[in-house]
Amino acid sequence: MERSQVHNFAAGPSPLPTSVLEEAARGLVNYQGTGMGICELSHRGKEFKGIISGAEADIHSLLSVPDNYSILFSQGGGTSMFSSIILNLLAAHRLSSSNISLPASSYTPPNIDYIITGSWSSKAYSEAVRLCSPSSTSSPTYAIPHIAANTKPTGYTTLPSKEEYKFSSNPAYIYYCENETINGVQYSLSDEFSFPFDMIPSHIPIVADYSSSFLSRPIPHLNKHAVIFAGAQKNLGPAGVTVLIVRNDLLVDTSLAYSKGGVIPTPIGMEWKIMAENGSLYNTPPVFAIYVCALVLKELVRNGGMEKMKEINEEKAKRVYQVLDKVETIEKMKGVVREKKARSWMNVTFEIIEREEDFFKGAEERGLRQLKGHRSVGGGRASLYNAVGLESVDKLCEWILEFSRV
Ligand SMILES: Cc1ncc(COP(=O)(O)O)c(C=O)c1O
Repeated sequence: MERSQVHNFAAGPSPLPTSVLEEAARGLVNYQGTGMGICELSHRGKEFKGIISGAEADIHSLLSVPDNYSILFSQGGGTSMFSSIILNLLAAHRLSSSNISLPASSYTPPNIDYIITGSWSSKAYSEAVRLCSPSSTSSPTYAIPHIAANTKPTGYTTLPSKEEYKFSSNPAYIYYCENETINGVQYSLSDEFSFPFDMIPSHIPIVADYSSSFLSRPIPHLNKHAVIFAGAQKNLGPAGVTVLIVRNDLLVDTSLAYSKGGVIPTPIGMEWKIMAENGSLYNTPPVFAIYVCALVLKELVRNGGMEKMKEINEEKAKRVYQVLDKVETIEKMKGVVREKKARSWMNVTFEIIEREEDFFKGAEERGLRQLKGHRSVGGGRASLYNAVGLESVDKLCEWILEFSRV
């Protein structure tokens, strides 16, 4: 089958622009006439340094990242970020002016707040419980994970209303996931179901998992965040690299924090300060993944940046949800997320009420690929990342309509 015959709706790893893959394939064999492939060049050479600094500059300009933030490239995916957030931010809390001079015996473990809106924020919270509040009474408690809101009782089909948020007093940070890839809920850009920045005092660090919506539209209130992270494998590039945007005052010496007592030691490859001081090159980075990300970023800049992506992505999501709402009335298929303002633009989750296998079989025959929902929830999921074109969306809509009428 030809690439042009396939409409790929994978949730990640997901499709990348064909032009980028073609250029990456050339660079893999011979990077810009050096006679050597990109994976054969030193990560400390001028070629790779040019690539990584170009990628950083493009993220900076695409998202209007203020100058008091660093853009870092790390490994270990979103999952490692769940852990490194805890380690770095608890170290920063320990070194804050009100705590730094306290002896370990007087240091009180802080609250850390998690907003649970789906599988990924739930996993991040579980990691906080695992690392910070051990089950054995003989082990120390490093922080008290607190659930500030939880939409599990709804099956993660909506987002919390403003009244449902119950933040703890003075947490070391507040964590949320902007787009839940498995469940298909996303914070909206408008008032209803937008993230409640106005409820949070400005000194509390806000951490956001943007893995599945990074670079799909502008990030609202980026400068109110302390940390934003995203695994590359949705909108940005191949799996293997994670982008981290971190406010510079949170780049702290975790060894110093550890020496004060009351915090968990941070593995060296997870310390953001060391990563920043070394331009993300403290250890050998995933050069090929970063190279492809750099090519995708260049293309995004050429194509009109975030406002243009927003326009296209909004239109793509609108078309799919409109069709799902239409067929819902004849009870064949329906969107999982009931609140329209909480619906993800990137991952449209849906239920096939009758003959599910026939739906997927027909989709395959039409070149509509990787439409099954995550194994933990079943059903269908169409991921509409940046590289999925309007024509693919229209093919999917046509099939949903055709299937629902038989
Ligand atoms: C929103 C979100 N966060 C975190 C992760 C975990 O990322 P990884 O598999 O790279 O560890 C994923 C993976 O799909 C995700 O979609």
